[in-house]
Amino acid sequence: MKNVMIVTGAGQISMAIARRIGYGKKIILGDKNKDHANQIAKIMNEAGFDVLPFEMDLSSRKSILKMIEEAKKYGPITMLINGAGVSPSQANIQTILDVDLYGTAVLLEEVGKVIEENGVGVTISSQSGFRMKQLTAKEDEALACTPTEQLLDLELLKEENITDTLHAYQLAKRCNEKRVMAESVKWGHRKARINAIAPGIVFTPLAIDEFNGPRGDFYKNMFASCPAGRPATADEIANVAELLMSDKGAFITGSTFLIDGGATASYFYGPLKPE
Ligand SMILES: NC(=O)c1ccc[n+]([C@@H]2O[C@H](COP(=O)([O-])OP(=O)(O)OC[C@H]3O[C@@H](n4cnc5c(N)ncnc54)[C@H](O)[C@@H]3O)[C@@H](O)[C@H]2O)c1
Repeated sequence: MKNVMIVTGAGQISMAIARRIGYGKKIILGDKNKDHANQIAKIMNEAGFDVLPFEMDLSSRKSILKMIEEAKKYGPITMLINGAGVSPSQANIQTILDVDLYGTAVLLEEVGKVIEENGVGVTISSQSGFRMKQLTAKEDEALACTPTEQLLDLELLKEENITDTLHAYQLAKRCNEKRVMAESVKWGHRKARINAIAPGIVFTPLAIDEFNGPRGDFYKNMFASCPAGRPATADEIANVAELLMSDKGAFITGSTFLIDGGATASYFYGPLKPE
């Protein structure tokens, strides 16, 4: 038996984090696209990791539970990395809500029921959650605490109240931040921790879809005009994850860490501020 790390989303960010801290563990790598899971598993297995690719759909509780059952066969579940997701240019409003918002909430809930003592998780949110206008305290609390099966019935998540896919994505990522806060209390009962990382633009296939999508110029300007003047690499996101998931992060739980090269700061108080 080995300690088990569940990873969702066989993408660049997941892989960078898993490579940093997944040595010596059994890694269950879930993705809706089996080819993505196979490709990343091959790269990692050829580099000495122990990765099992697994077909799963983050938007389905049944699928999440199936992955957890598979993971349990190999040992205690001690780590979670949730890097599965869809971006505003990749999916429609409903899919963004189903995957990024509801799916993440269910995953944190279900893994939170089985995570080992001293276990730790990280979910990848986004700077987009920081861009949206303030919600009311009541709306924030509803995003944090509404039972998962009722989440998508909330008034602010009804399709008629959502402007476009970017707005849906922002709501999903704000919800991630709030769910992590509420879940950290439950994870704490098991002496486990859960945090989120909210990246700015990171070079990955998802970001490349955004550069080539309808908001491509907006995104290119965003990284060119932010204090860092460039997008991040996935390995820089792994730097933060490594801190959060190691003993050095033992006092950190229920938090979301913005790592965006200063783009959000510039959006509010610098050249990226909308007219
Ligand atoms: N790349 C960026 O600039 C950026 C910025 C901020 C936040 N993020 C977030 O980071 C996370 C990871 O994105 P990435 O950039 O590594 O993308 P990526 O495209 O490299 O990987 C995402 C993976 O998620 C998988 N996926 C999509 N829908 C799924 C579903 N329903 N069930 C299971 N897997 C599914 C895709 O097949 C893909 O392999 C996402 O949540 C994204 O919103 C990315």
